[in-house]
Amino acid sequence: MTIKLRQATISDLELLKYWDTKQHVIDCDPDDYEWDWENELQRDPEWREQLIAELDARPIGFIQIIDPYIEETHYWGKVQQNKRALDIWIGEEKDLNKGLGTIMMQLTIERCFKEPNVDGILIDPLKTNTKAHRFYKRLGFEFIQEKDFNGTACFVFELKKATYKNLYN
Ligand SMILES: CC(C)(COP(=O)(O)OP(=O)(O)OC[C@H]1O[C@@H](n2cnc3c(N)ncnc32)[C@H](O)[C@@H]1OP(=O)(O)O)[C@@H](O)C(=O)NCCC(=O)NCCS
Repeated sequence: MTIKLRQATISDLELLKYWDTKQHVIDCDPDDYEWDWENELQRDPEWREQLIAELDARPIGFIQIIDPYIEETHYWGKVQQNKRALDIWIGEEKDLNKGLGTIMMQLTIERCFKEPNVDGILIDPLKTNTKAHRFYKRLGFEFIQEKDFNGTACFVFELKKATYKNLYN
């Protein structure tokens, strides 16, 4: 079983729109944020990577990595430099709870910390998404604070580089 991350392209448009209709994907997305896939898949700003995870060449999920300090909408508000912030979901219900998300995250964490300046990875699950809280804690993320993002209560977690070095190396 091999999971690989590759850049999302406009060829993934229909799949990403289809995954957006899945209840478990809708449930994790704060305030009905509109991803505007058609436009976004055709631009490549320096502060972002949009990735598709493939299991033996079959697309199974999506990951976005941003630099929250320079991201243009300043979604994260006041945030330190040298961080990365993630969004992640698996598309099909049948692919949940099989350990695939864990491997996707491990690959993503490695990718983020390959950049020598990056000292922490942030994630902002809904306050109510207790399954995701457990998932991130297992991966070494620590609870930082509760934070309101556009009227939605979220928990902020961070995987610090020092923790990563202890756990993953
Ligand atoms: C969050 C998410 C990416 C996690 O991915 P996942 O592949 O389901 O996660 P894992 O399979 O690694 O772990 C989830 C559970 O499956 C269990 N599991 C892992 N491997 C397993 C296996 N081989 N057999 C049975 N269970 C397994 C884990 O123990 C874990 O149990 P828990 O829910 O009691 O903590 C995925 O659930 C998802 O896309 N959810 C919807 C979107 C979402 O919430 N995204 C996060 C927004 S911040």
